[in-house]
Amino acid sequence: MCGIVGGVTNSNITPLLLEGLNRLEYRGYDSSGLIVLSEKNTFNRARSVGKVKNLEKNLNERSNKIKGNIGIAHTRWATHGKPSNLNAHPHISKNSVSVVHNGIIENYVALKNDQKKLGYEFKSETDTEVIAHAIDYAIKSSKTLIESVQKVVKSLEGSYGLGIMSSKFPDQIIATRKGSPLVLGVSSNGNYIASDQMALLSETKKFIFLEEGDVAEIKLDKITIFDLDGNLVDRPVIKSMIKAGQVDKGIYDHFMQKEIFEQPQAIRDTLESRITNDSVITSSFGYKADEIFKNIKQIQIVACGTSYNAGIVAKYWIEDIAKIPCNTEIASEYRYRRPILLDDTLFVTLSQSGETADTIEALKAAQKINNSIKSLCISNTPESSLTRLSDLTFLTHAGPEIGVASTKAFTTQLVSLALMLCSIGKLRNKIDRTQEKEIVDGLKKLPGLINETLHQENQIKILANSFLDKNSTLFLGRGTMHAIAMEGALKLKEISYIHAEAYPAGELKHGPLALIDKNMPVIAIAPNDELLEKLKSNLQEVKSRGSKMIVFEDENSKVQSMDSMQVIPVTSNLGRITAPIIFTIPLQLLSYHVALLKNTDIDKPRNLAKSVTVE
Ligand code: F6R
Repeated sequence: MCGIVGGVTNSNITPLLLEGLNRLEYRGYDSSGLIVLSEKNTFNRARSVGKVKNLEKNLNERSNKIKGNIGIAHTRWATHGKPSNLNAHPHISKNSVSVVHNGIIENYVALKNDQKKLGYEFKSETDTEVIAHAIDYAIKSSKTLIESVQKVVKSLEGSYGLGIMSSKFPDQIIATRKGSPLVLGVSSNGNYIASDQMALLSETKKFIFLEEGDVAEIKLDKITIFDLDGNLVDRPVIKSMIKAGQVDKGIYDHFMQKEIFEQPQAIRDTLESRITNDSVITSSFGYKADEIFKNIKQIQIVACGTSYNAGIVAKYWIEDIAKIPCNTEIASEYRYRRPILLDDTLFVTLSQSGETADTIEALKAAQKINNSIKSLCISNTPESSLTRLSDLTFLTHAGPEIGVASTKAFTTQLVSLALMLCSIGKLRNKIDRTQEKEIVDGLKKLPGLINETLHQENQIKILANSFLDKNSTLFLGRGTMHAIAMEGALKLKEISYIHAEAYPAGELKHGPLALIDKNMPVIAIAPNDELLEKLKSNLQEVKSRGSKMIVFEDENSKVQSMDSMQVIPVTSNLGRITAPIIFTIPLQLLSYHVALLKNTDIDKPRNLAKSVTVE
């Protein structure tokens, strides 16, 4: 996804811009560019498709070096218009204004039509170029650059993080944000902007976090900020605790624990710039997504392990909500079984690492079986093998996941799949605006809901004690919760080495009931949905065979507690999309605390690797 870095310094800024772009590479991008105001107050710009090293090569090969004290730079993830030099940022209007932009301007077509009538020429296919032209036009009736930006942002619909320079105001850059993050960096050498503090860590640890709607004027020795209503405001300077280039456990004992607690932020990052107030931005799946999604007739999801479990949840959602046939299969099976792949299939791979050998081979096999299919990869790793092999890529933005047992990658995959189903459903007229808004509202609530669930850690710690003498555990759920039960069982077995199995609760009487006795704890997930009454009967079947039970329920499910049964309300009134994500959290915490009590190697469980790059 796009990245911004820029600043006003007392020396040549080009190396700092390049360093910042390199530090933003992890977010994924397909082109990059920078622009610097030269001593003669003219713009000097370079843009390249591909890696930042291509941009560096481009700069090195120039006879007139790009130098100056003021500049802005960008890594672009194509949404409106393909990856190309012309579409790469920064964009320029009439040698007067230059702009870098993260986000999407939804009303750019209307603005573009108006600007064409005023004589503005468009060099790119992007939604961003209208911002540069609008500011150029507004400057004519403004005393300052910031005044012109304040006027222009009022006309923009959508989301933006913007860095703006003008050759008419050569001592400053303007930064503003709405729906996309932007921080200001403060140092004795100058003042800076970036979409992510990581970009500036080599220069400063002091940051000002702009609030929604803020517009800031950044000069060498002064930063002035106005809020959404145009009032002068004082935002605090905060010292960052992040160490450049270092991924550490911070206050946590294990990476897995840290990653469980990072989920609210990971989900915020996954959603950032992918949704508006009430809708999903389809082009966040890539600039070709609209066309591809419109024409598909079925979906085939392929993945391994935890990613496969996310794919099973998605199958329920996709058929139920987007009304399109969907099948989910384990990659190591799919790759060898000579499946039939119909035309107009969207082949979706899910992979945290993007390097899982079986998933890669399954995609290659599918492309061989029917070369007309389109592929989408949902991954946490930019530039991974799967992303390179796929027509579309969606990065989960969960941040590095170090613990072998996947946690935040799973919940962010689910969020990504929800965005995918929403995009596909609306293009196929199966999801109307009200439903879309409901889904978006639900997704926005997730970070807060997860935080509430994380507060149950102490209660879950106590529960964990009862697993110490157990060799086996059964997880039960129905519908999407069967897949969440599968994920709960996988987590428990891989880090605590307790055998665990998941069953759809309705399947018990067809065999597994024979296993139930007092030594086999049963964990059930009871959301308040249309299968609740059936699940309650299944719980009775188990209870009457003497098992110790733990039920994680929705407050409104009102599962009646019995002897040797603990009912733990996790949340209340969740929707079809949010419920599976929230019920995942107590299961992650339970596995973690059982493993902690058993003193296993939590972050590196025996016999397992983080990324399975061999068959
Ligand atoms: C379980 C786990 C594994 C991975 C699986 C696929 O906690 O982490 O089951 O989910 O190896 O890995 P990716 O998602 O990288 O393809």
